[in-house]
Amino acid sequence: MDKLVLIGFMGAGKSAAGRSLAREFAWKFFDTDTLALVLSGEESINDIFDKYGEQHFRDLEVRAGTALQQETKAIISTGGGFVMNTQAMQALKSPNTCVLYIRVSFEELQIRLRGNTTRPLFRDVDKARELYQSRLETYQNYADLIVDADGFTPSEASDKIVTALKEGKII
Ligand code: S3P
Repeated sequence: MDKLVLIGFMGAGKSAAGRSLAREFAWKFFDTDTLALVLSGEESINDIFDKYGEQHFRDLEVRAGTALQQETKAIISTGGGFVMNTQAMQALKSPNTCVLYIRVSFEELQIRLRGNTTRPLFRDVDKARELYQSRLETYQNYADLIVDADGFTPSEASDKIVTALKEGKII
C-alpha cells in the first residue's frame, strides 16, 4: 500500500484520524475538502454550496482527487460524498490504494454533529439520515477494510485502523 484513502459519512472522524495516521506513518496528509476549498477560492464549504450549488462542489472534488492522483505515501481523507462521485474516486484508486471505511452509526453522528453548522448537507437531520442510508452500500462496496468507530475518539479510531491494517497484512 502506498496510499490510504479514508471514506465515511460526515462526522466519522476521517480528517482527525487521517492526521493522526499520517504522523504515525510519517506520510503526507491530504484532505479533499480542504483542497476543494482552496481550488474554489471561497472561504467555506457552506459558501461554495450556497453560491454555486452542490454540483460545483462535486466538480471541485473531482479536481481535488485528480490533483492527488500521483501522490504516494499519502493518507487522504475524503468528504462524505466523495465516494458518490465515480470520477473522483477513480482518480484515487490504484492497485496500491487501500480504501478504509470509518463506519459510525447515524445516531452517534447526530450527537457528534449537534450544533455544528459547517456542513450544508447536515442542516436538515432527516435529509441527512436519508443521505446516510443511501450511501451505506457505496461505502461498503469501495471498502478494502471497515473499522467500526462508534464510541471511539479519532485517536482511538486511528489505533484501531493501524490494528486492522496489520491484521489485513496491508502494513
Ligand atoms: C459532504 C461532506 C463534507 C463536505 C461537504 C459534503 C457530504 O465532508 O465534503 O459538506 O456530501 O457528505 P466531511 O465528511 O468531512 O464532513
